[in-house]
Amino acid sequence: MKFREIKNNVFYCGLNDKERKIFDELIPLEQGTSYNSYLVNGSEKVAIIDTMYPPKADEYFKNLDENKVTKVDYIILNHGEQDHTGVLPELIKRHPDAVVVTNQFCKNNIMEMLFIPEDRIKVVRNDEKLSLGDKTLKFIIAPGVHWPDTMFTHIVEDNLLCTCDFLGAHYTFDDIFADDSENLAHCAKRYYAEIMMPFRKMCQKYVKQIKELKPEMILPSHGPIYKNPEFILNLYEDWSADNAKNLVLLPYVSMYGSVAEMVNYLSDKLNDAGIQTIKHDIVSDDLGDLAVALVDAKTIVFGVSMVLCSPHPAAANAAYLVNILNPKTEYISIIGSYGWGGDLVGKLTCIMSNLKAELIEPILVKGRAKTDTFQKLDEMAKAIIEKHS
Ligand code: FEO
Repeated sequence: MKFREIKNNVFYCGLNDKERKIFDELIPLEQGTSYNSYLVNGSEKVAIIDTMYPPKADEYFKNLDENKVTKVDYIILNHGEQDHTGVLPELIKRHPDAVVVTNQFCKNNIMEMLFIPEDRIKVVRNDEKLSLGDKTLKFIIAPGVHWPDTMFTHIVEDNLLCTCDFLGAHYTFDDIFADDSENLAHCAKRYYAEIMMPFRKMCQKYVKQIKELKPEMILPSHGPIYKNPEFILNLYEDWSADNAKNLVLLPYVSMYGSVAEMVNYLSDKLNDAGIQTIKHDIVSDDLGDLAVALVDAKTIVFGVSMVLCSPHPAAANAAYLVNILNPKTEYISIIGSYGWGGDLVGKLTCIMSNLKAELIEPILVKGRAKTDTFQKLDEMAKAIIEKHS
């Protein structure tokens, strides 16, 4: 496949992975993903920015050969995770004179994880520059989006910014440039929810920094290249903003329909008051949709059946995901149904201990909801409506 030129001797040499169904063995991929790699042909030196996911190694090296990439002086690593560095051992074998350029944290990672010899690595600091002749690479150390080893690379004269995983999307494409579509925004949000949301404050910081830099294009490590950087920067600004939206997320698992009945009742009450709700069946619905809803939800109310005196394991798993994704949710509550008793609220709130959310009085009922249960649900709805107003 012939490399596509992005601008002025900067080429896309990444690959789509349309067949991949899940990322991190956690969130299903609706539309596959891409692993982006960039080739920068300077007048004196040639650099590759980020490499490739190992299962795509053969295709990647075939493309490099077909495009006659015989001389590589620098291999820039913006991050050490193996979807971008997995083929590095083979790449440095093929190019014995190439120098791997990265930050100190990433250097430690690739030495330990990929057994890259120390004498092949050059460490760069924040704002350090590397000349390729008529082009300069400038490195911006950006820990926290999403690993401590992350950095960005600015191709200065062309004003192209390689942002690594930051601002990416699990999205495949024929044209390498973003179509700025609803579909792309959806995939980018799903990606943000899983990968960047736990680092929301850092996202705010780097969005601001990149807006000040005003790159002509953003070249992420997954998904298409943004010719209109404002498209993705404005979306990130919205998703990472401190204020949650007027949305109640209701993840639930219901063994005999008792929990579902209560969740539906509460949802209807909230909708009547103008509050948007998302009911998420934890057992059968897509986990990625749950993650996306977490980006905006002001309140989460778990609906949970109890199994063997404890929360249903599917609910515990969802609560654990909520805890590690650490959304900006402000209020949380639980509606539970049990057969003979046990600890539901204590165990679930313990799992979600990262959350700063205020607990609204939970509701527990033996079996199905009774008249007083619906009264309590009315009170819960009233409390949520007040907090959302
Ligand atoms: Fe796409 Fe953090 O690797």
